Amino acid sequence: MMEKTQETLLEVKNLDLYFHGPLHNHDLHALREISFKVMPGEILGVVGESGSGKSITNLAVMGLLPKETKIQSEKVSFAGTAIDLNNEKSFKRFRGTEVAMIFQDPMTALNPFLKVGYQLMEPLTIHMKMSRSEAKKRAIELMEKVGISSPDKRFDQYPFELSGGMAQRVMIAMSLTTNPKLLIADEPTTALDVTIQKQILNLIKDLKVKEKMSVILVTHDLGLVAEYADRIQVMYAGEIVESGKTKDLIENPKHPYTEALLKSRPEGGGFKPKENLLTISGVVPMLNQRPGGCQFAPRCAYVEEKCTAKTPELVNNVRCVKPLS
Ligand SMILES: Nc1ncnc2c1ncn2[C@@H]1O[C@H](COP(=O)(O)OP(=O)(O)OP(=O)(O)O)[C@@H](O)[C@H]1O
Ligand SMILES: [Mg+2]
Repeated sequence: MMEKTQETLLEVKNLDLYFHGPLHNHDLHALREISFKVMPGEILGVVGESGSGKSITNLAVMGLLPKETKIQSEKVSFAGTAIDLNNEKSFKRFRGTEVAMIFQDPMTALNPFLKVGYQLMEPLTIHMKMSRSEAKKRAIELMEKVGISSPDKRFDQYPFELSGGMAQRVMIAMSLTTNPKLLIADEPTTALDVTIQKQILNLIKDLKVKEKMSVILVTHDLGLVAEYADRIQVMYAGEIVESGKTKDLIENPKHPYTEALLKSRPEGGGFKPKENLLTISGVVPMLNQRPGGCQFAPRCAYVEEKCTAKTPELVNNVRCVKPLS
């Protein structure tokens, strides 16, 4: 018997995004030729320094960007349904139900005036059409599932009574209320200390397996994401510069930027830097100061004349004219 091919959960093909409007006298090209897929039940790690376009990629897909945005794409589809990113309604039916999002600072995402239990019950009564008693039972189950101790007690607490790690667990529990197929976690642990960080990421990985959920895990820490992601996509200045299976990408980075990110990590996530710990000199260029040619060229240790002559195409999942071997 032929094995059934797995259906792609989310596909984005050649997405370009521009900011325009009264604040900018010309269009700012923020994302360029963004193409990626998320398969059922996998964790896709997205890394890159601040300003590389990680968040706006996800926000664009979710239809959550401000009005002064222009989006072009060849194809975007979710669970087999084509999505028109320029039509607000198109993605709305998936958002908050089949696709859930958690953010960096859980405290700002929770309503400070409402008890935790109430906030968990709301999506259950609204989206899942449960009665109040069913919703309460399910909310407490979800709190248990995400490792919240004494859930009955926590149910009646306000957000300020929770620690940051606990609040992020509540956010994750909330994101699970509608049994999403995809969880987008944008820097979910940046506001937390290191031990709590690992607990939350372990929880996300655990849920991926148990709930057969796909996860887009955004972070600027390549070493950290390497422990959790099945595949990794590296972004720089609004482009995907390299993507691949986690092990391949970590052990054998092809793009100088990926290598530089790995070298700037103390342990390098399994990657043993040959030289001493380095920091990448320079910064991600601003949208109105993008260089011609390869975006990373001004900071690249291997830069040659041809790098600045023209923009490198993505070849074998690497956007570099002279990939590392
Ligand atoms: N509404 C907006 N108008 C104009 N430019 C914007 C807007 N939102 C984001 N940008 C710009 O788009 C680029 C990408 O931003 P984005 O927030 O996606 O970066 P990021 O990779 O998520 O960074 P971080 O790690 O800091 O979260 C940045 O140069 C940012 O300044
Ligand atoms: Mg961001």
